Amino acid sequence: MKKVKIGRLTLKNPYLLAPMEAVNDIVFRKLCSKCGAGLVYTGMTNPLTQQNLSLEDKPAIQFFCNTEKGVKEFIKKHEKETRLFDFNLGCPSKLAKKANIGCFMLDDSSKLEIIEKVLKIARESTKKPLTIKIRKSKNSLQVLKIAEKYCDAITIHPRTCAQGYSGKPDIEFAKQIKRLTSLPMIYSGNVNEKNAKDLLKYFDAVMIGREAIGNPNIFSRLTGKKNLVTFKDYLKEAKKRKFYFSQIKFQAMNFTKGMKNAKKMRLRLIHAKKLEDIESIFELSQTKHI
Ligand SMILES: Cc1cc2nc3c(=O)[nH]c(=O)nc-3n(C[C@H](O)[C@H](O)[C@H](O)COP(=O)(O)O)c2cc1C
Repeated sequence: MKKVKIGRLTLKNPYLLAPMEAVNDIVFRKLCSKCGAGLVYTGMTNPLTQQNLSLEDKPAIQFFCNTEKGVKEFIKKHEKETRLFDFNLGCPSKLAKKANIGCFMLDDSSKLEIIEKVLKIARESTKKPLTIKIRKSKNSLQVLKIAEKYCDAITIHPRTCAQGYSGKPDIEFAKQIKRLTSLPMIYSGNVNEKNAKDLLKYFDAVMIGREAIGNPNIFSRLTGKKNLVTFKDYLKEAKKRKFYFSQIKFQAMNFTKGMKNAKKMRLRLIHAKKLEDIESIFELSQTKHI
């Protein structure tokens, strides 16, 4: 299996769980790691809000901001709990637009200075690898040049901000960026079991996003690991950790993907009010200690 070097970090394989807000809770991340993911990311986190992050699995921590305020403190606080820090310049959500973060920051040429400030402070605050995640943008090249001064790798999701998560990712654009830099490059955008290996001919690693939702086993299949997990594994650990019911129900919906009666199960899940309802839908009710 191809190993990947990102600064001082060596990943055992090039198949990474993409950062996904709400989806990548600690239990889901741990299942993806168990199935062999080379690296798992948190969802994007604001350094200024003191969230209680569960980081005992040492994930890559992704942060977003439009000011350097709080970045140094955040990085120092979490340095020992992470394998790398990633700066988000790709979020296309309405909230990101309002806060002028993510890809709206990337697309705004007047923000290049603050992007550099954030990366400089982050670089000075940690010896852990530092990366950025960008989209296709008129400023991609300029940001690449800035990243080369401070970062150990770059992730590209070659859709524009306006495309959000739909439409074709511009793989040629990503390849062009790769040719222009010696930084390791991680590719993100519609990666699946079929195209992952081919993409690795051009990029150092690939991120799996939506294909991994409810489907940690994609990493087992890609890495040839024998570990296979089910929603029962998720539920067992989420119950132990006293996760909110809404989060468990959300992941239950996700795990129906590819199941025989997925549509029926989802219809029933909509009405689930308590854990027992979910257990019954997944036919786990008979199991006393799951
Ligand atoms: C539910 C969801 C949440 C996401 N949250 C984040 C996030 O917090 N940070 C980030 O950089 N990208 C986020 N993304 C984008 C993914 O990391 C990835 O770049 C994108 O989905 C394209 O890859 P895919 O086609 O494999 O899903 C999110 C995507 C989804 C679907």
